[in-house]
Amino acid sequence: MSNNLLKGKRGIIFGALDENSIAWKVAMAAKEQGATFTLTNAPVALRLGTINKLAEACNAQVIGADATLVEDLEKLVTQSQEILGGKLDFVLHSIGMSPNVRKGKAYTDVNYEWFQKTLDISALSFHKVMQTCMKLDAVNEYGSILTLSYIAAQKSFPGYNDMADAKATLESIVRSFGYYYGTKKKVRVNSISQSPTKTTAGSGIKGFDVFFDFADKMSPLGNASADDCANYCVSLFSDHTRMVTMQNLFHDGGFSNVGVSDALMEMYLKQAESQG
Ligand SMILES: NC(=O)c1ccc[n+]([C@@H]2O[C@H](COP(=O)([O-])OP(=O)(O)OC[C@H]3O[C@@H](n4cnc5c(N)ncnc54)[C@H](O)[C@@H]3O)[C@@H](O)[C@H]2O)c1
Repeated sequence: MSNNLLKGKRGIIFGALDENSIAWKVAMAAKEQGATFTLTNAPVALRLGTINKLAEACNAQVIGADATLVEDLEKLVTQSQEILGGKLDFVLHSIGMSPNVRKGKAYTDVNYEWFQKTLDISALSFHKVMQTCMKLDAVNEYGSILTLSYIAAQKSFPGYNDMADAKATLESIVRSFGYYYGTKKKVRVNSISQSPTKTTAGSGIKGFDVFFDFADKMSPLGNASADDCANYCVSLFSDHTRMVTMQNLFHDGGFSNVGVSDALMEMYLKQAESQG
């Protein structure tokens, strides 16, 4: 249902690869709430994914950009303002990739060149996006810049590999850049720490399906879906949250504050009984 929460707002949405992507759902929800935006992804993702279908549905233009390359970002931010007819009100950074995860390298045996790629793509790119926007003075006052994180930034989750270090860096950039962007330009910067979600990036993590089920049983509300995440993003782009900045906001059905749940205890008890 549309309340036109984002009417008149302009933005850039990074990271819609296919219809499972969290960014895809955010684009659809933002469109429904009256926003206009450009869509962007890495050139290789434009070739392999289905972003043009989304662009058609959202009446949005697609601009290729590798988020690790500042010159690509400068072109993207400049062109987006030209296409949309003014400064931006929101940016979604929905980007993550670890070559170590992709190629099955264990955390205790990582390839360090790949580790640096993980950090560059999944964390430093967020700094690059904001530095570019700030230098080009591309975001309106009380504009909202959002990135997506995961609780492995705070607690150990075997299998999440070097992405955990990337997310910890990402959340630190939210606080550090958020301070300067807030004081200099009154721009807001936050991360959403999302439940496990069945997407290309999510499913790349070893044992994802089992973990998805575990998190669902741990969380009083169950796992938050990508559609729920999209609605939360819309609220954070809207003027209703204009004083929220420098926060890591858990969007996880309560998972982050639970030690153990009845649902899991029952499962283990049944297992113990069946084993006699
Ligand atoms: N899926 C989950 O379980 C989950 C949970 C918490 C947080 N997140 C985070 O949500 C974000 C979006 O991931 P998703 O789950 O929608 O998966 P996804 O695979 O659909 O999205 C990841 C995107 O990153 C893009 N990308 C990779 N390298 C890039 C580069 N150099 N330049 C520009 N874009 C690049 C990919 O093309 C892709 O569109 C990621 O930051 C991810 O870590 C995901």
